[in-house]
Amino acid sequence: MTRSGSVWLFGGIIAVLSCFFQADARTDALIMTEPSEVNNKTSATLSCNLTNPSSEIKGHYWTRNGKVIDASKSDIKVPYTEYQIGKIDYHHSGIYACVFQTEPQVNATIEVKAAPHVAAYKHSEYGNENDRAVLVCVGSGYPLPTDWSWYKVSEDGNSKAAISNGTDDKYEIKNTPNKTTLYINNLDISGDMGKYLCLGINDQGSAEDEILLRVRSRLAALWPFLGIVAEVIILVTIIFIYEKRRKPDDIADDEDSGSAPLKSNSATNHKDKNVRQRNSN
Ligand SMILES: *[C@@H]1O[C@H](CO)[C@@H](O)[C@H](O)[C@H]1NC(C)=O
Ligand SMILES: *[C@@H]1O[C@H](CO)[C@@H](O)[C@H](O)[C@H]1NC(C)=O
Ligand SMILES: *[C@@H]1O[C@H](CO)[C@@H](O)[C@H](O)[C@H]1NC(C)=O
Repeated sequence: MTRSGSVWLFGGIIAVLSCFFQADARTDALIMTEPSEVNNKTSATLSCNLTNPSSEIKGHYWTRNGKVIDASKSDIKVPYTEYQIGKIDYHHSGIYACVFQTEPQVNATIEVKAAPHVAAYKHSEYGNENDRAVLVCVGSGYPLPTDWSWYKVSEDGNSKAAISNGTDDKYEIKNTPNKTTLYINNLDISGDMGKYLCLGINDQGSAEDEILLRVRSRLAALWPFLGIVAEVIILVTIIFIYEKRRKPDDIADDEDSGSAPLKSNSATNHKDKNVRQRNSN
């Protein structure tokens, strides 16, 4: 191959390749997002800038965690859209996406992160002595907590002790991103009663909630049952006494009511007599 021949071949390859890339650039719509992610902010303006739309833009809208934000719907045919978040908290954090209504539709996502929200499933729990207590806290927001911890608050409320999983078969902790569960085995009245804290942490911050655990003695657990037994005994006694006291009245009642049938009997007797008389006539 001559020198000029190889130059031509090389040039040809470059030309084909660049043609290929140009074609690609022409058909591929591109969305530039600003910012690319929202971290530790109290408010933000999200924006998307669409270049090389594949067709006419019929409109655009935004979504949060896959749900369309109705207020963001627009049929303005521009390749640019903004969405303002006035206050970023766990309620407004999430995965946002701008969607341009072209053929096909195109979208780009922006993660808006905030500290999580943590809430006790129930703020007070009851357990019976020797039983097992189950305390639950639920996490929400974006991102969900990546770490959970539990603490027992001291009686005076001034300090807290971390609870670790599996200690003396007493505690067991089970975690999922949106939920933490603390099991307390073999409940003890003096030792386990009190306030517990659950703490959820993500890379933006943490949140906690409090649960008050009350432990009842075995005997106390019997009280409702004993109450019912006592109630039944009292009722039976009252009915018994009432029945006994009613007896003489009943006899009097029977005498009173007995006079009526007597009368009617005498009436029928008269009738019978009449009939008999008529028959004899
Ligand atoms: C969108 O991007 C284009 C090209 O990068 C740029 O020229 C234009 O100013 C951008 N528009 C806005 C509103 O940022
Ligand atoms: C706690 O220990 C149990 C049993 O060993 C285990 O199944 C569970 O995943 C542990 N929980 C945590 C939060 O490590
Ligand atoms: C926790 O997450 C699971 C799976 O992602 C989901 O099915 C469940 O509904 C969530 N629970 C709460 C309370 O958000």
